[in-house]
Amino acid sequence: MYLEMKKICLLLAFTAFSLAAVSAAKKQAARPLDIDRTPRLIEIATDNTELILKVNSDGEVLFGYYGRPVSDPSPLTEKKNYKRADLGTEPQAYSVQGGREVREAALAVTHSDGDLNTQLRYVSHKTERKDGATVTTVQLADLKHPFDVRLVYEAYPAEDVIVAHTEITNRESDPVILRNYYSVNLTAFADRYFLNYFYGEWAKEMTMAEIELTHGIKKVSSLKHVRAVHCENPSFILSLDAPLAEKSGDVIAGALAWTGNFDLSFEVDDLDILAVRAGINPYSAEYPLASGETFSTPNAILTFSSEGAGRASRNLHDWARNRNGVYKPEVVCPTLLNSWEGAYFKFDAAVLKKMIDDAADMGLEMFVLDDGWFGNEFPRNSSKAGLGDWQVNEKKLPAGIDDIASYAVSKGLKFGIWIEPEMVNPQSVLAREHPEWVVGNNGREQTTMRQQWLLDLTNPEVQDFVFGVFDNTMKLSPHISYIKWDANRHVENVGSSYLDGRSQSAFWVKYTEGLYKVYERIRKAYPDVMIQACASGGGRVEYGALKYHDEAWTSDNTDALSRIFIQYGMSHIYPAVAMGSHVSAVPNHQTAAVTPLKFRFDVAMSGRLGMELQPKDLSDGEKEFSRRAIADYKRLRPTIMYGDLYRLRSPYDAKGYASSMYVSKDKKRAVLFAYCFKYQGGYRACRLKLDGLDASKRYRLKEINVQNKPIFWGEGKAFGGDYLMNEGIEIPLKKLFSSAVFEIEEVK
Ligand code: DGJ
Repeated sequence: MYLEMKKICLLLAFTAFSLAAVSAAKKQAARPLDIDRTPRLIEIATDNTELILKVNSDGEVLFGYYGRPVSDPSPLTEKKNYKRADLGTEPQAYSVQGGREVREAALAVTHSDGDLNTQLRYVSHKTERKDGATVTTVQLADLKHPFDVRLVYEAYPAEDVIVAHTEITNRESDPVILRNYYSVNLTAFADRYFLNYFYGEWAKEMTMAEIELTHGIKKVSSLKHVRAVHCENPSFILSLDAPLAEKSGDVIAGALAWTGNFDLSFEVDDLDILAVRAGINPYSAEYPLASGETFSTPNAILTFSSEGAGRASRNLHDWARNRNGVYKPEVVCPTLLNSWEGAYFKFDAAVLKKMIDDAADMGLEMFVLDDGWFGNEFPRNSSKAGLGDWQVNEKKLPAGIDDIASYAVSKGLKFGIWIEPEMVNPQSVLAREHPEWVVGNNGREQTTMRQQWLLDLTNPEVQDFVFGVFDNTMKLSPHISYIKWDANRHVENVGSSYLDGRSQSAFWVKYTEGLYKVYERIRKAYPDVMIQACASGGGRVEYGALKYHDEAWTSDNTDALSRIFIQYGMSHIYPAVAMGSHVSAVPNHQTAAVTPLKFRFDVAMSGRLGMELQPKDLSDGEKEFSRRAIADYKRLRPTIMYGDLYRLRSPYDAKGYASSMYVSKDKKRAVLFAYCFKYQGGYRACRLKLDGLDASKRYRLKEINVQNKPIFWGEGKAFGGDYLMNEGIEIPLKKLFSSAVFEIEEVK
């Protein structure tokens, strides 16, 4: 009986297989594209790294290799992953739901006939030179449907960075639904995987954690959308085989450029192979792609380093600065005074002008008027009212913004101003006039967060409005050089009255596309205005936003001790040129910590230096100290902004020290920062082996921000580069919140 059944089953299976084969052959024959099944390798190379894809004899495009360059990769064509061969598909270059793939797919599509499967095959590939990058495009097509995928890899040789994205084209006669549409899919083969990622919350951004990946899926992701990256950041550093080290080890680092929900997915499968997918978060985000349309995913920025985290960070920083990952990094960042923590909503023209006088007196270069300058029927005197009504508050500033901006300019300062154009308070004229612009689902009550609602940027009218807010603000004075663009809530009760019922799940993508359209328009109209990306602090520290912004507001936490950790985390992925870093008052408004002014300056000077306090509350001595620090910073600024970062001591290593240095590209100058935030006992000193210098050059160390007398016995002396890097120096930092900054210069 059993044998009979087995025979019948086999027969049925065979018949089904034959029918399927015939029908597949028919459908394949009907395809306009011929699928090329010649085995080949596709090499995507930078100066020191190589990503290799391989096409097998089934025309599948598989992941081959990512690492140091190999002189003869041809054995990869033969190489089979025996571990996986039995289970079916080897790791695909871009994994799709369909065929024999059993892992989470980078691409999952419901085709127009309801088919849930896609099986991509190689069609062609080409490599071209474009703006200093080598661009490799791999064209793939589905076996059954007229449905195409293009994998695009831009290789930046000197930076050792590969920027990858995917283009998905629906050539079927009806819409398809994209369910997963990640930017990139990578594979790693190692025995152990150590994932370093960044998380936190308001005022605690970019906290670092390292975990060893175990079987299953670990996700680093966000569903908050606006200020999506406040908690988890769309970036990672993956260390292969051993925990992350600063100067050694194979490391893959990546960042997604997307101002919205994101997902980084790390899947260790049953055979210990790691798949990494980075892209738009597919949660509740099915995207209908009309016939004839192409969907382009955001960029994923990738680098490989065989010299640990330090090199990976420097690669990403170089890419960001050289390839406009950050907007116009060449523009010198002015030191500034921001009014927020010094005045909050309580100011008038006299208060602001006094702050400007003090800023000028201390040598700062810009004054930024933060929240609170607008709204008349609903004056913006707290976060409760006024958002959306971008008219100057006549009570506070009867002579308008130009009065303040011209005053700043007359004192030799630039002028900047705050806006939050994506948001509206229920208590505003805008909310009364345009309730249909508020994000919220079809008559459900929208929740407020910081007493505000979000405007629906999927709607072109709202896009015009948001552009108008920027444009009209700029027109308030010819002296506005800088805009701080804030965004202080995330998305809840998602829904758009502009999108039709069936497209609601496209909100997440369409909102960000709407935002980018506005950014594009602004950058066309105002190419030279500096813009800061702020979203309750670091809610937009990511390369999608930074492309349009000169800098980001790193965190609302301005406490120097917290900033050591936050900035250390941020430095792994984002360069100092993007990192707003301000000296504020004590006790700190967020943490209540009391730290010395020197410590606060020493920390803030490692990024884009500003102050955010009421200067009239500083003593004369503190003002004098600030004056000197600001003047010194201006001299050191090019090295800090454009130099190579070397992290010497991690604040996470429990010793209570942190230290890093920036070294100019020509290795003639450097700036060294060292902090102590734990009492070390009476005699201990902070031992630092410098890095990144030229071993054959001689360097002089000069302390900056000296308080009584220089702290280091070697002040003013010359040392060999090799001595500084091998023997190193000991700086007597032992007290809580003691710190030192050194200017290092080559001596002939
Ligand atoms: C949040 C920002 O992060 C702060 O710097 C400040 O601009 C406030 N918003 C103003 O409301």
